[in-house]
Amino acid sequence: MVEPALKFWRDGEIRDWATQGSVSLLTHSLHYGVGAFEGIRAYRRADGRSAVFRLREHIKRLYDSCRLVMITPNLGPLDFERGCCEVLSANGMSDGYLRPMVLLGDGAMGILPVSNPTLSVVMAWSWGAYLGQEGLDRGIRCKVSSYARHHINVAFAKGKITGQYINSVMAKTEAKGAGFDEALMLDVNGYVSEGSGENIFLVKDGRITTPPLSASILAGITRDTVITLAEEEGIPLREAPITRDELYLADEVFLTGTAAEVTPVREVDHRTIGQGCRGEITARLQQRYFDVVKGSDDSHPEWLARY
Ligand SMILES: Cc1ncc(COP(=O)(O)O)c(C=O)c1O
Repeated sequence: MVEPALKFWRDGEIRDWATQGSVSLLTHSLHYGVGAFEGIRAYRRADGRSAVFRLREHIKRLYDSCRLVMITPNLGPLDFERGCCEVLSANGMSDGYLRPMVLLGDGAMGILPVSNPTLSVVMAWSWGAYLGQEGLDRGIRCKVSSYARHHINVAFAKGKITGQYINSVMAKTEAKGAGFDEALMLDVNGYVSEGSGENIFLVKDGRITTPPLSASILAGITRDTVITLAEEEGIPLREAPITRDELYLADEVFLTGTAAEVTPVREVDHRTIGQGCRGEITARLQQRYFDVVKGSDDSHPEWLARY
């Protein structure tokens, strides 16, 4: 179980989790799922200093999510950026996971949120490897889900909207129940979309492919980071639709996400991927990723928000 940190941030102020960390049962977002959130990691780097990774981009996406569902946050993006750093400092956390959210509070009940106030919060907790250290080292086992990813006219794939995550929760629950580590979802046309909380990449004959942003996928910030790192490493990469059989026949498959970082996939639907372990290109990009987020690779200072 996750242990939230003792202090959180709400509407511009640091507060105590124990006494103020709850909301009304009439919170509109709780009933109808219209709320926006983010997942961000802060790391202690090799030089002993800490930084939030790609904070600005995460907060920008939070505001994009709000825009998609027509929530007007009560505070600005810079307040949220400050709030994220303040929560980490107030809890004395040199690394950790941040969960900013914008919620519609209690007020009008019914589908249409007419007079509901917005709540802005940032919580923090310590979170190790989301899919396990063994997953990072050896790779995980995935199942193609019986749940399709939302059609682009059913939900907003480009937003992290609370209610939309029922799709991910069902897919993950199904995969775990069947003995796998993670779900991979196809879109309604049958193309590979993404994991329940990760973007997907495959490697075939030395070239990386990942679904394009026009697909029903979240525009993952880790995805963007890995694309940049692959370019820097001179590894060919294209954004193109992926079919299920291409997935089974890939030399390497890996998932990316703030929580999952860069996690190799060693098996999909009982088919061994490549050699059944972390592949060479995956290992190179994973190493580069960890060097950039918490090691001594300072080649992207623009991605680091020191606190
Ligand atoms: C559905 C989904 N896809 C992909 C990702 C990866 O996005 P990011 O790398 O920005 O964390 C996430 C996590 O936020 C997600 O929930």
